[in-house]
Amino acid sequence: MHIKSAEFVCSNTKIEKLPGPTLPEYAFIGRSNVGKSSLINSLTGKKGLAKTSQKPGKTQLINHFLINDDWYLVDLPGYGFAQASKKNRAEWEKFIRRYLVLRANLQCVFVLVDSRHEPQKIDLDFCYWLGEQGIPFMIVFTKADKQSKIKSDQNIAKFRAALLQWFEEVPAHFLTSAETKLGTAEILSIIDGINQQ
Ligand code: GTP
Ligand code: MG
Repeated sequence: MHIKSAEFVCSNTKIEKLPGPTLPEYAFIGRSNVGKSSLINSLTGKKGLAKTSQKPGKTQLINHFLINDDWYLVDLPGYGFAQASKKNRAEWEKFIRRYLVLRANLQCVFVLVDSRHEPQKIDLDFCYWLGEQGIPFMIVFTKADKQSKIKSDQNIAKFRAALLQWFEEVPAHFLTSAETKLGTAEILSIIDGINQQ
């Protein structure tokens, strides 16, 4: 898919204030600092579109970006941000989960997982929760440029094996890098396919 336009629409904490659910929507979720905002910029080819930071906890709102006047990419705050207060964390989690459960036009959630790490409980639990809720999701392994392909593939295999304990069929996955754009064409192609359905 060719990206002709990518525009910031709005930031929200209240799902009642989101744009009307008339266009297909794809949300990026994952731990703080995993690279959600960077991957959105890489996918759209617009560097400053979603705000990124070396410090975790940068994205704190539900951010809508309109792509090709036809569908939305949504950048979400990360989970598992250690420096946030317990109360803050619980509140974010509540509103993100509410968004994911209630958003009628949400086609697929992309769960971003750092390809450098062995499977983490927080990511596996989140995938399990999505499965329980019946929310369609795919897994995006990030920061592939930071280590060898062999290492990434080992971590991916372990993550998939862990998911297989819960799911009969493990969802599709992608190995990506916001730096080299590895995997970005595949993600856009999957989105294009869903949009055509
Ligand atoms: P929060 O908004 O805090 O939840 O973080 P985020 O998941 O949106 O992460 P963000 O995109 O802000 O990236 C975090 C840091 O990782 C930044 O310093 C990015 O430059 C870096 N980063 C993200 N993706 C990649 C990647 O593919 N390769 C490399 N080398 N660095 C990356
Ligand atoms: Mg972010």
